[in-house]
Amino acid sequence: MDGNSRIRPRRLRRNPLVRDIASEVRLGVLGMIQPYFVQDGKGRKDAIESLPGIHRESVDELLKTVAKDADLGVRNAMLFGIARAKDSKASGAVDANGAVVNATKKLKKEFGEDLTVFTDVCLCAYTDHGHCGLVEGEVVVNDRSVETLREMAGRHAEAGADFVCPSDMMDHRIRAIRDGLDKQGFVNTGILSYAAKYASAYYGPFREAADSAPGHGDRKSYQMDFRNFREALREVKLDEEEGADIVMVKPALAYLDVIRGAREAVNVPVAAYNVSGEYAAVKLLAKAGYADEGALTIENLTAITRAGASIIVTYHLRDILENKWL
Ligand code: PBG
Ligand code: ZN
Repeated sequence: MDGNSRIRPRRLRRNPLVRDIASEVRLGVLGMIQPYFVQDGKGRKDAIESLPGIHRESVDELLKTVAKDADLGVRNAMLFGIARAKDSKASGAVDANGAVVNATKKLKKEFGEDLTVFTDVCLCAYTDHGHCGLVEGEVVVNDRSVETLREMAGRHAEAGADFVCPSDMMDHRIRAIRDGLDKQGFVNTGILSYAAKYASAYYGPFREAADSAPGHGDRKSYQMDFRNFREALREVKLDEEEGADIVMVKPALAYLDVIRGAREAVNVPVAAYNVSGEYAAVKLLAKAGYADEGALTIENLTAITRAGASIIVTYHLRDILENKWL
């Protein structure tokens, strides 16, 4: 036998326990964040057709849902608002009585440090045109949008959000939001930045859920072009310098190279958003009987983790816990 034939990779695959000890990645639910859609009103819980198992809920219903999820083991919640009314200034985004503000207050009162609350900071659910920033003429303008985003983040911080999560992709909003939070005295409120967010066809089901599809044009003047990798490194480094506590890559599965690149480029935790289209694809495959839902889910989330994400926003979290897939 020559030297090389003494090496047998299959020794580490002999049985389940050996495979476990030899595994390079260990998935844990403490690194996962469950998204929720919150709306005004009372007793409202509407299913979202494109996202089986996910609902738009009024605050009272949300509290019940989160209580059940917390019993299962959910420790991180990300809140997306559904606007009551939309206008050109995104007034609803900075409403001190908005659904996300009210939900955050109640969740923090109820769960305290047993639940970390992340709030989405973006204008698209609140603008009548559906863009993530304010529009002048045909242009999504940067600096005026950043002013409104800063105000919105301040409202969420006042309500008790642990992390505000700008998903708009305007330039320099991280610095502005950090300055705003510090000036208001919220020095311990964190920022999870959607630092490398691509213009993606995988957001389709979310736009139905949040009713946030742009009425004219697309998001390509602010979200990234999927042909670009190095540009993502510029974005994550810039956000780290501006004060982001966590940077996120989005979507996840078609962007594993970007997740790896981000992991190597910055020293803050890297998150990945396992987006609505990725979730819906798994649900559809499973429903058609072409794949096992649990196996697909764990394979996908393991790949995202292996690429370098230590935090994953995923609609699958509740199903993972309920079905004990981990
Ligand atoms: C909006 C926003 C989007 C998502 C999160 N925040 C959609 C978009 O940019 O159109 C996508 C989430 C998903 O698809 O699961 N700022
Ligand atoms: Zn947006």
